[in-house]
Amino acid sequence: MSALFTPFTLKDVTLKNRIAVPPMCQYSATDGVSNDWHQVHYATLARGGASLVIVEATAVSPEGRITPGCLGIWNDAQAAELAKIAKSIKAAGAVPGIQIGHAGRKASANLPWEGDDHIAEGDPRGWATIAPSAVAFGKHLPKVPKEMTKADIQRVMADFVAAAKRARDAGFEWLELHFAHGYLAQSFFSVHSNTRTDEYGGDFAGRSRFLIETFDAVNAVWPKNLPITARFGVIEYDGRDEETLSESIELTRILREKGLDLLNVSVGFSTWEAQIPWGAGFLAPVSRRVRKEAGLPVASSWGVASADVAERCISEEDMDLVMIGRAMLANPHYPYALAKELGVENPSWVLPAPYAHWLERYSIS
Ligand SMILES: Cc1cc2nc3c(=O)[nH]c(=O)nc-3n(C[C@H](O)[C@H](O)[C@H](O)COP(=O)(O)O)c2cc1C
Repeated sequence: MSALFTPFTLKDVTLKNRIAVPPMCQYSATDGVSNDWHQVHYATLARGGASLVIVEATAVSPEGRITPGCLGIWNDAQAAELAKIAKSIKAAGAVPGIQIGHAGRKASANLPWEGDDHIAEGDPRGWATIAPSAVAFGKHLPKVPKEMTKADIQRVMADFVAAAKRARDAGFEWLELHFAHGYLAQSFFSVHSNTRTDEYGGDFAGRSRFLIETFDAVNAVWPKNLPITARFGVIEYDGRDEETLSESIELTRILREKGLDLLNVSVGFSTWEAQIPWGAGFLAPVSRRVRKEAGLPVASSWGVASADVAERCISEEDMDLVMIGRAMLANPHYPYALAKELGVENPSWVLPAPYAHWLERYSIS
């Protein structure tokens, strides 16, 4: 019996197995609007047998995009196209999720395959960036952001709320707040990027305030019967790991008490000097600790790309869901391969009937 292929229920949503597709930017939108690429991409991932497909980081405002090719959800035209994606994910047998976020000081970057660095000053494709403090990330992202005023903070929170309402109305059943990866929310939490001296900086309470208030504001409009989750970089690998992890667990506990249903455990990516111990499932012990000490379901990713690691992450209770990214890009039917390898009974039925029927009847391997 494979633990990976057991269902998981959160509020009114039941996932058919423990394999989720994490948000993965496609950098292929125009003015934040999705197109045929996104339609086909997400439907394909959903057909492959994952139980949950989370649409990529979708910006709550134009300035919150990472690159000019990022998706947005700040207007109705964008939401109308996203609704088609939610519908096709659901029709293919997976739960439609979406990640909403703001890129903060990492915004206004070139597409990854065109440099991944900040768009040069004066280039009309770029825009002014904002962050808790006027501190640049550095290296390939040297642009100094404008320090946010209290009015800016209120405006961005209102943008998150409007985005969540649009996501709800577009048919998404799983919301992920992007509080990770050195983007705006993470940069409020991180000492690498927040040097404020007002109530949105300083000690743990100050650096957590933006995340907590944003969560509260969004939670007030997100349906009570559907999961509200966050992705958060709980560790930086910057030599302060125990301190950061303890603070992250404390923040997760606070958010859980306020209604957070699940944390997608990730890395902070707040400093380019981090020494990240890349390796198969390297975040498993970290996510296990968050799960236990913060007392809520967790998901995680990064190198969960073999049957052995994926099965162990679930059976040993390191996480409740494995988020499999690049292996799904390489083979969108990867859950079917995992099911075969793990000896799941009738593995073909991980796929929808129009595929499963033929693969079961006339097996090709
Ligand atoms: C093409 C690509 C785009 C990504 N975009 C996002 C994103 O929009 N939001 C996010 O939180 N993580 C993003 N990530 C990180 C993935 O969600 C995932 O954590 C990462 O790929 C590690 O999992 P894997 O080893 O299974 O690929 C992206 C990763 C890739 C490869």
